[in-house]
Amino acid sequence: MSEVYRFGVSLEKILIEAFDRHIEAQRYKSRSEAIRDLIREELIRKQWTEGGAVAGAIVMTYDHHKRELVNVLLDIQHDFQETIISTQHVHLDHHHCLEIIAVKGSSSEVENLATTLKVQVGVKHLSLSISSASE
Ligand code: NI
Repeated sequence: MSEVYRFGVSLEKILIEAFDRHIEAQRYKSRSEAIRDLIREELIRKQWTEGGAVAGAIVMTYDHHKRELVNVLLDIQHDFQETIISTQHVHLDHHHCLEIIAVKGSSSEVENLATTLKVQVGVKHLSLSISSASE
């Protein structure tokens, strides 16, 4: 674990009361942990908007009976092989597949991959969850 720094923060009463309600609702054990998460989320958001390196997961469901869809999705994934770390495929039922694609790369490449997959006919739903590629 890296060195820990402490600092004081001054807040209006109404703001700290609202923050404490948030902490309780989210079941944080301390204000420090809640503030750490807020800082991390903001830094990841900044990395994302500035095109920095991110890691994350694309989760999608699709109808594998759609003509040529499986081949199209595979071709797209081969085109993005430098961005994709791994994939997990689950046969949900007779018609539907769930795919979880772990990604790492620039936010623009990751977004380009997610968008390219999402617009294919037969892809039912796609979500992208982003985390930091470092720290
Ligand atoms: Ni399947």
